[in-house]
Amino acid sequence: MSRHPLLRPRRLRRLAAFRQLVAESSLSPSDLIYPVFILEGEKAREPIHSMPGIERLSVDLLLEQLEEVVELGIPAVALFPVVGAEAKSELAEEAYRDDNLVSRAIGAIKARFPGLLVIADIALDPYTSHGQDGIMSDGVILNDETVAVLVRQALTCAKAGADIVAPSDMMDGRILAIREALESEGFSETAILAYSAKYASSFYGPFRDAVGSAANLGAADKKTYQMDPANSHEAIREVVLDLEEGADMVMVKPGLPYLAIVRRVKSELGVPTFAYHVSGEFAMLKAAATQGWLDYEATLMESLLCFKRAGADAILTYGAIDAARLLRAQGRGSAV
Ligand code: PBG
Repeated sequence: MSRHPLLRPRRLRRLAAFRQLVAESSLSPSDLIYPVFILEGEKAREPIHSMPGIERLSVDLLLEQLEEVVELGIPAVALFPVVGAEAKSELAEEAYRDDNLVSRAIGAIKARFPGLLVIADIALDPYTSHGQDGIMSDGVILNDETVAVLVRQALTCAKAGADIVAPSDMMDGRILAIREALESEGFSETAILAYSAKYASSFYGPFRDAVGSAANLGAADKKTYQMDPANSHEAIREVVLDLEEGADMVMVKPGLPYLAIVRRVKSELGVPTFAYHVSGEFAMLKAAATQGWLDYEATLMESLLCFKRAGADAILTYGAIDAARLLRAQGRGSAV
């Protein structure tokens, strides 16, 4: 039997002040992580056509952009290198060369902004001539051979000063191998953000354009190591394994279509849970906005708040700067 008119949920929606008072989730710049694409050279800047407003930048220009990131209160950036064809190879040796682009970028960022967290992606796809995240033989991605290279890559990034290494490759056992290597080499403070539930998704398309791995990958896919979008229990299992192996934080990726997974991880395990609002999700908002079909700012803010409602502690998003600017302009402190 309805209790109307005793119960009228609309009472609490009448004024903005009511809505703010009873809001269950909020978004702040401190929830955001800004992913950046870095280029060799100086004063180099390239637009990414499938990600309007996002550019590949050389490290000198990136440092200028990071002034604003820091000033807006965004606590972390995630680095993705654009590697030239001459530095790509079958065995991805460039991934662990001490003076590679990522190492130099990490050094420059930490020297200028010591308080900004730098997340180094651990995966071989920018460095392999075939665009896969691992070492390949006869069309098969070799797990343990790949893990050995990932360990070297993680140590190189830690040595360069990365605060967080983030294996995004989905090989089995890589978290334990990386954690043990970091401990034994004196990097016990280097945190691991494990891309634990990373799905074989078609929403990564624009990212592969941005880092230039799309052409190398060709028609191949990553379904033998990234997860099947049909699965949810398997995500919990992957997260549990990574936590047991020493992950400090875990990631679910992509974002919006996978918020059910974010919710399960947060509710069932209660660990620091990050989510990635990936390139294709960002591109969809931008493309629709360009047509005049969606309001980019409103749909971005709604999307990011939904990540928080689902239980995400932090969100990687290409809209981090836009969102942080909007939060500031709204003048409501940092909450949406
Ligand atoms: C690869 C990697 C990918 C992304 C981040 N790291 C793509 C892939 O797995 O092919 C995608 C991020 C995005 O789409 O924004 N290690």
